[in-house]
Amino acid sequence: MAGSMMQAVVVTPGIKDSARLAEVPLEPLSGPGDVLVRTVRVGVCGTDAEINEGLYGEAPKGSPFLILGHESFGRVTQVGRDVRGLLPGDFVVAMVRRPDGCPNCLNGEQDMCLWGRYTERGIRGMHGFMAEYFIDQPQYLLKAPPAVAHVGVLVEPLSVVEKALRQAFEAQRRMLWRPRTALVLGAGPIGLLAAMLLRSQGLPTCVASRGPTASARAQLAQDAGARYVSLAETPLAELPRRAGETGGFDLIIEATGDSGVVMQAMGLMGTNGVVCLTSVTGGHNDVQVDASVLNQSIVLGNKAIVGSVNANVRDMRQAIADLAVFESVWPGLLGRMLSRRVPPADFGAALRRQPDDVKVVVEFGPE
Ligand code: BGC
Repeated sequence: MAGSMMQAVVVTPGIKDSARLAEVPLEPLSGPGDVLVRTVRVGVCGTDAEINEGLYGEAPKGSPFLILGHESFGRVTQVGRDVRGLLPGDFVVAMVRRPDGCPNCLNGEQDMCLWGRYTERGIRGMHGFMAEYFIDQPQYLLKAPPAVAHVGVLVEPLSVVEKALRQAFEAQRRMLWRPRTALVLGAGPIGLLAAMLLRSQGLPTCVASRGPTASARAQLAQDAGARYVSLAETPLAELPRRAGETGGFDLIIEATGDSGVVMQAMGLMGTNGVVCLTSVTGGHNDVQVDASVLNQSIVLGNKAIVGSVNANVRDMRQAIADLAVFESVWPGLLGRMLSRRVPPADFGAALRRQPDDVKVVVEFGPE
């Protein structure tokens, strides 16, 4: 195995539609602190599609290509002699972002990187996980219990949501804050996982998205106890009217990937509200806003806008714990999110969004 070749889905960052299946070298396990992981499945997300659009992403230094994929799930096959806490056979999920030497990174908070020289596996400067095997170090690998192995590929997207919510609550420690209404914009995997997280914490939650009310996504949101509003029927601006005493939503998680919606989302907060932005939007989008009205409402209403990227190891751990919670509260719901499974050879189909897609996964091997 070591020293041989393996299949991987690779792209040439900056070049549109460059994703392809390639034979790449399988590096031997050389370091005593290294772990070799056999990939089971990898989730596909909007960021992968943007990288394939040529709008985002960066190959590792000296490499003409980038192995795609950052939503990993695999099984340890070999560990270096100094590795503790991981054994062959363990299910693992890998962290995406890797530290530079900034004070925050040195403090274990590479999600809060100050200098911006971080790398991200499958996204920026470091190969990802859409390959038969990958090598990593134990500090970036989290063990997933067998009970959540079938949905372990959702740990990374859920960790994004865990961090977003943690950040929103951190920001709101500026006052006595008892949120009563939550709005999730977008019913993709991030939006749906956000709805589950908010509902599991007992918050009445509305999910608003472009898709129709009769859709798999709407059904998933409703089955998690959220109200689903189709923006094809109800304009965004009408939502706050229904939101209660603060004249808008106390907490908004924005996850549409549409920067136009992001601008509108800021106007949907209630007094003392917070909006947490999670969409990574490449390219450009000129939108017109009434800046005076928006500014006035943010100032007079003490409103907070928080951007949140990636996840800290504690958010990854929390995500693993919450997957188990979701499974017990809504048995089978998470499994329904894995709506399409494709082999590596069909990576192209995986990157092309279909109407009923929720989370598409590339299947590399058996659990
Ligand atoms: C990934 C994050 C990453 C972000 C920006 C998202 O799709 O889930 O891990 O930090 O893109 O690159």
